[in-house]
Amino acid sequence: MRMWWFITTLVITAAFICNSPAYAYDNNPLQDICVAVSDSEASVFVNGNICKDPKLATSNDFYFPSLNISKVVYPNYGIGATFVGVQDMPGLNTLGMSICRIEFEPQGHAPLHTHPRATELVTVLEGTLYVAFLVPDTANFFYSRLFSKILYPGDVFVFPRGLIHFQYNVGDTKAVVFGNFNSQNSGIVTVPSSSFASQQLIVDDILALGFQLNKTEIAELRKKFS
Ligand SMILES: *[C@@H]1O[C@H](CO)[C@@H](O)[C@H](O)[C@H]1NC(C)=O
Ligand SMILES: *[C@@H]1O[C@H](CO)[C@@H](O)[C@H](O)[C@H]1NC(C)=O
Repeated sequence: MRMWWFITTLVITAAFICNSPAYAYDNNPLQDICVAVSDSEASVFVNGNICKDPKLATSNDFYFPSLNISKVVYPNYGIGATFVGVQDMPGLNTLGMSICRIEFEPQGHAPLHTHPRATELVTVLEGTLYVAFLVPDTANFFYSRLFSKILYPGDVFVFPRGLIHFQYNVGDTKAVVFGNFNSQNSGIVTVPSSSFASQQLIVDDILALGFQLNKTEIAELRKKFS
């Protein structure tokens, strides 16, 4: 009897899992609008931002002007970027989306990085970009495969959630892309600078072993990335 109960439960559970619809990574919205409000005094914690009273929402909560320019310039990388997440457009709260614009000078590049909470879909508006992401080998995660492509205006490419990727302008003119994320707050982890220029330094031995470098080389890299 007990065995039958166990098997029945197993079958029902399996059927439920197989028939479940695909879920976006962020929670599905549970109300029409939920405008983020920054209130450090708020005593509630939610996975995201707490909502403004819908009666107080305005059109500007759902608006971000001029994604025709890349606001923040990173001269060392030859790029400019504007990210529009929930902190810039409060109406994005709970909607599971955000967007960015990146502009690359010739040889400009977005260094090896990941977005811990989002898949990124890029569309090239101008220029020629070499893009790629790495997929770890399931049998041995110290090995990985590179999936890469040269992109031209109108081309679309996807970087799956959390995977290390990069973008590099291989053309003679500026390149512009829009990146769409399936998170209101995609996050970004930059591999080279996090490794060599964290505020509290990673001890030399770990970097020496991990990257097969000697201490002089580590000191040089720290200087370059800080
Ligand atoms: C971007 O758009 C804003 C608002 O429409 C406009 O004032 C500005 O001149 C534009 N800038 C560029 C570089 O196109
Ligand atoms: C570190 O490695 C470099 C080569 O990359 C070499 O020139 C240098 O002598 C090495 N330094 C030490 C202390 O081993």
